[in-house]
Amino acid sequence: MIKIIAVVGARPQFIKHFSFEKSSTKKIDLITIHTGQHYDENMSAIFFNELGMKKPKYKLNTGGGSHGLQTGKMIIEIEEILLKEKPDGIVVYGDTNSTLAASLAGSKLAIPIFHIEAGLRSYNKKMPEEINRVLTDHVSNLLFVPSQLATKNLQKEGVLDNVIEVGDIMKDLVFYIKKNNHLTIKKPFSNFYYATIHRPYNTDDKERLSLVLKSLNSMKLKVVMSIHPRTTKLMNQYNIKRESYSNIHFINPQSYFDNLSYLNSSNGLLTDSGGMQKEAYWLKKQCVTIRKETEWIETLVDDKNKLIFDELSDLKNIFTNDLLNWNDSLYGKGNTAEIIVDTIVKYYK
Ligand code: UD1
Repeated sequence: MIKIIAVVGARPQFIKHFSFEKSSTKKIDLITIHTGQHYDENMSAIFFNELGMKKPKYKLNTGGGSHGLQTGKMIIEIEEILLKEKPDGIVVYGDTNSTLAASLAGSKLAIPIFHIEAGLRSYNKKMPEEINRVLTDHVSNLLFVPSQLATKNLQKEGVLDNVIEVGDIMKDLVFYIKKNNHLTIKKPFSNFYYATIHRPYNTDDKERLSLVLKSLNSMKLKVVMSIHPRTTKLMNQYNIKRESYSNIHFINPQSYFDNLSYLNSSNGLLTDSGGMQKEAYWLKKQCVTIRKETEWIETLVDDKNKLIFDELSDLKNIFTNDLLNWNDSLYGKGNTAEIIVDTIVKYYK
């Protein structure tokens, strides 16, 4: 059996890894490295427990610190494990610092890199994620893309070979959760918007973060905001008090089932997350993305997802009550992990 190392580190990667791990049973000898990028119980362990995933064989301690420090520490430690384990290939997900570190460590040892969620672009180089995904794509041996647009993005950069359109692995889990009745009713208010905000450009500047919160506070419905540790940390640092925003109901980061349940029980989503824009789409909830651009362009059709960044005073009127037409086959059929596993196995034949 081929031996593959999967590297995870941040919250969205645990979610993606679930479906890969499940589909790889009996087909791949899978070893997992957790870089420790996300280390709080409710940013990490909670997902492994709730989803019944295997404990990673290696758990590193590289979270926190500057991007360079974090990524550098990861490369050093991942390389050591790769030299010891000698895997046939490495699976990386998405665009975090953990993705880039594993791709650099692996490609320099000439170990094939398999990138899941390849080809996405925001064309905003100020985002650390954009740097991470571009560099990862350019050292990858198999590029698993979620859409035709992602294939085209890669073509523009001259990446033409081994690009395989497979849909989005996150859709597998949303389907799994619906099928297994893991969605519950989460309604702290009969009508509310659900919100998550954590991107540096919305949180790292005191004025911007205050403006974002003030705008959420002015929404016509209550806002339930699941608050990422970086946002909490910065609010404390800037002395921004939760009590000043009486229309926002702050809650701690949620488990995966609870997060989706809040979203599913809400009247719509306000976010700057990448993954949640798609989850809102699959659950048929209108989404407002507080960013200048999105990698998930297809979700924007017919205002199912709307972008807003500078004109935040318009936020309170942004949700429409229009009946929206959802495309059920957006980003695949919910069997992406299976296709990926089979393609990787075939790669070695
Ligand atoms: C990372 C990813 C981002 C992804 C997000 C999901 C990068 C560059 N960014 O951003 O793409 O959307 O995860 O959550 O990799 N912190 C804690 N506890 C934790 C985790 C983080 O307190 O469990 C703190 C860190 O110490 C740091 C801040 O939150 O001060 C940011 O964490 P970091 O992992 O650097 O990036 P994220 O903003 O979470």
